[in-house]
Amino acid sequence: MNRKSLTVGSLINGKKQFLPSKNTNVPQSKIHLQQNRLHAELTPVSHQTLLDATLDQGQLLDYACRKGTCGRCTVEVITGASLLHTPNKKEQKKLQHLLTEGYRLACQATIR
Ligand code: FES
Repeated sequence: MNRKSLTVGSLINGKKQFLPSKNTNVPQSKIHLQQNRLHAELTPVSHQTLLDATLDQGQLLDYACRKGTCGRCTVEVITGASLLHTPNKKEQKKLQHLLTEGYRLACQATIR
């Protein structure tokens, strides 16, 4: 049996290119949230709150009022803070100095 062996060079220089094509559907970045022992990795969806995006993407977060008053949905934004709109007045009132430490109210923080 005549077997043609493949090498890295033959894959690159042969008639067919076996190099992976660029996938343009890969999201540019993710948002990572931490809430106590819960961790969420989100694909950014414009105009959604962090809470809605998290739940819609099948992940868990603790929350209660959804009105920005109880504070139960407070999350630490580990990555992707630049993808969020600036805090609204409810977040500013509830979190105060925690905003500068990367915390947000998931029910109020919206994705750009
Ligand atoms: S769920 Fe109460 S402040 Fe967000």
